[in-house]
Amino acid sequence: MSPIIIDGKKISADVRAQVAAETAKLKEQGIVPGLAVIIVGDDPASRVYVNNKKKACADVGFYSEEHALPAETTQEELVALVQQLNQRKDINGILCQLPLPKGLDDKAVINAIAPEKDVDAFHPSNVGRIMLGEYSFLPCTPAGVMELLHAADVEISGKECVVIGRSNIVGKPMGMLLLHENGTVTICHSRTKNLAEVTRRADVLVAAVGKAKFVTADMVKPGAAVIDVGMNRDENGKLCGDVDYDAVAPICSAITPVPGGVGPMTIAMLMRNTLTAARMQNGLDN
Ligand code: GUN
Repeated sequence: MSPIIIDGKKISADVRAQVAAETAKLKEQGIVPGLAVIIVGDDPASRVYVNNKKKACADVGFYSEEHALPAETTQEELVALVQQLNQRKDINGILCQLPLPKGLDDKAVINAIAPEKDVDAFHPSNVGRIMLGEYSFLPCTPAGVMELLHAADVEISGKECVVIGRSNIVGKPMGMLLLHENGTVTICHSRTKNLAEVTRRADVLVAAVGKAKFVTADMVKPGAAVIDVGMNRDENGKLCGDVDYDAVAPICSAITPVPGGVGPMTIAMLMRNTLTAARMQNGLDN
């Protein structure tokens, strides 16, 4: 079987083009969506992500500003910055890049972000709204996965959907979004017994484990759609996902590559959330 390779680069470019077109229209009304990105310390991966987010903002026509703080920043200083940004009319979205350096409490920072500016959808009030299906923003990575599944015409309703990983950023909201679309959802984690037996039931399998090539061919049902959220380095230092792509691709119906699958979607969805935030804060319908 030769699978559909789900092209995250192309699908994310389409989302970004749509955001850019809507931004151009907003600008005619004098509205420029604005995103503030906070980065604390010098984690190299976070630096790359933040640079990519700023570049994406420029590409779609948003205003963006970066607040790069030293690792020694105190909790109070960080929260004070968030509170200032909450008050700013020209800033519609606030994002604090995670993880934070040791000693800083990410929960306290997330809780300080005004929910209507929380374009990551990490604030408890946004998380609760997702649970209820009444959301304005979806967390960027799971939302990007849903876009990919839709673009590839993968059926979710009534299907067995298995998510490996239960993080607040990906696994838990991912399960919820699949449930909203009437999937029968199982979330697996490090204590799951007989993991391969569970994952082999999946018509739609989402891997968000953070371990290189963790999902092997014996864990995948022939004909499944496989979405790889992982971003790891293999034994040769080469970028790879959580799925052993070469072994799994031949048996599935659709699969995302790494790189070029979920990764580019995350930033595209952040752009969409920031646009939504700007529209809502200016009293426009969504
Ligand atoms: N670190 C890894 N992924 C993310 C994300 O989606 N948002 C933020 N703020 N930090 C992250």
